[in-house]
Amino acid sequence: MSLALEDQTAVVTGGSSGIGRAISVAFAAEGADVVVADLQEESRDPDEHRTTAAVVAEETDQSARFVKCDVSDPDQTRAAVEAAEAFGGVTCMVNNAGIFHGEEFTEVTEDQFQTLIDVNLKGTFFGAQAAASAMIDGDGGTIINLSSVAGLRGSAGYATYCASKGGVRLLTYSLAAELGPQGVRVNAIHPGIIDTAMTTEDVPIIGTDAGDEYMQAVPSRRWGDPGDVADAAVYLASDAGDYVNGESLTVDGGMTNTT
Ligand SMILES: NC(=O)c1ccc[n+]([C@@H]2O[C@H](COP(=O)([O-])OP(=O)(O)OC[C@H]3O[C@@H](n4cnc5c(N)ncnc54)[C@H](O)[C@@H]3O)[C@@H](O)[C@H]2O)c1
Repeated sequence: MSLALEDQTAVVTGGSSGIGRAISVAFAAEGADVVVADLQEESRDPDEHRTTAAVVAEETDQSARFVKCDVSDPDQTRAAVEAAEAFGGVTCMVNNAGIFHGEEFTEVTEDQFQTLIDVNLKGTFFGAQAAASAMIDGDGGTIINLSSVAGLRGSAGYATYCASKGGVRLLTYSLAAELGPQGVRVNAIHPGIIDTAMTTEDVPIIGTDAGDEYMQAVPSRRWGDPGDVADAAVYLASDAGDYVNGESLTVDGGMTNTT
């Protein structure tokens, strides 16, 4: 079984922080060059002062390049994919950029709904489209979309987020059907609760009393680390995952299938 990603070039949206950052560094450690496509170059993690490109340069033999990109604008995502040409062209697209907030369903405004859908669903849709076009013209590749356990099950207080991540899941399956014959594999990862700024700042779960109680529903009895998700992404991008297509890989410490 080979997890090597030599000769690969990955584009990782939202690659400056959290899960996207861990995926970028893990991919580089396995031999891939990486385009980090994000709104900002600095990490959202207050304890991390190096950019993802700096970590890749210091800790691996590969190169990473930052491209400023708002995934809700398809032109910017296309430009990020084009930036991968400098490394030989995209072979793995990781549509990871996302935003998360809670809400009272009856209070959600059209603007709030649209903003979240534009990043989480539209961003993934057009990120996949930009990469697929390049991959079909090249030697094929893999697309990995970050959904969530919220894309598998409904959750009170998170209707827009669940709608966006459920959309990402079925988008993934549709693209696997359409692109598989053209040499492009498409899979989704569904993280549980992972320790990033999203779950410590945006929707504080980790480090709260409610979070401690919630952890009793996680058989592994710990929160996920971004590296847990990165390991799954490496597998899906590598030859080890070569016959895995149109699949949902849940990385949640056992939470979804046991509660
Ligand atoms: N953390 C979790 O518990 C968890 C669980 C399930 C799914 N996810 C999903 O994993 C992905 C990564 O989450 P995370 O926890 O690493 O979040 P994070 O907030 O730590 O990092 C997200 C990164 O995306 C960037 N970003 C945000 N909006 C963007 C945009 N419009 N264009 C480009 N970049 C943008 C941010 O600048 C940031 O660097 C998201 O899609 C999220 O929904 C996270």
